[in-house]
Amino acid sequence: MPELAYINGTICAIEEAKVPIEDRGYQFGDAVYEFLATYNGKIFALDDHFSRLERSLRELKFPTVDLTQLKSASLELLKRSEISSAGIYIQISRGVAPRDHKFPVKAQPQLVMTIRELAQIPQAVRTNGARVISMEDARWGRCDIKSVQLLANVLAKQKAIEADADEAILISPAGNVREAASSNVFIAINGELHTHPLTRQILPGITRKITIEICKEEGIKVNENLFTKEQMLSADEVFLTGTVTEVLPVCQIDGKLINDGRPGPIAEKLYKRLCRRTGQ
Ligand code: PDD
Repeated sequence: MPELAYINGTICAIEEAKVPIEDRGYQFGDAVYEFLATYNGKIFALDDHFSRLERSLRELKFPTVDLTQLKSASLELLKRSEISSAGIYIQISRGVAPRDHKFPVKAQPQLVMTIRELAQIPQAVRTNGARVISMEDARWGRCDIKSVQLLANVLAKQKAIEADADEAILISPAGNVREAASSNVFIAINGELHTHPLTRQILPGITRKITIEICKEEGIKVNENLFTKEQMLSADEVFLTGTVTEVLPVCQIDGKLINDGRPGPIAEKLYKRLCRRTGQ
């Protein structure tokens, strides 16, 4: 089960894959990405991820990229690797050119993918819920674009790890809950869910979207509205959604228990329903 890379049409072992040092992704963070999971050898929500990738490219005014071909290449990569439970990372940079802030005139977008075994959430965290910290959101103003400029997310996650927590929830200057370093956030109050609306301040998560679809099928009301950190701390349930996270209950925030500190029934139900969709 080899872990492979794809660079502009060529597949090779990850260790052999190289990008030029003047790649704009490397020098400016001028690149977009997607992260997809596979279940039983099938890519989950492939079209949703490619639609979001197309949007990210459009919003950043990238030259045209043949995404149909890239989609076929991602399937070929999966086939060749034979990894059943894989994480596929796709990155498209604006190209390779002498360092200069303005867009290069001639450069071609660089298409890169890797496929590896998917890192799983530890079973104890799945069963008992995640511990998270909250902190002020220090990211830029276009968090709806899945760009590789993740330094604030990296620092937030590291702060969580150093506080013996699993994730960091990012709070707006006005005190509203946006999302987490690498997942979206939902809370449950009196049987209804609340999650941040799709604005420039959060990533339009694919798992968020699928969770909302599942809620519709299950008759669970989802309010896409702003809510405060205080409302989150006193909610009946808090949970995270994401490609790796799936649906993950939060048991503790900043050392304070959520409800009785045990995973709640809505998160549990939604996790099971998501597992049915992914074929687990
Ligand atoms: N991150 N919000 C942020 C900031 C994220 O980075 C992610 C995913 C999500 C959840 O989105 P989705 O359901 O489409 O995975 C929300 C990926 C997994 C990553 O950066 O590796």
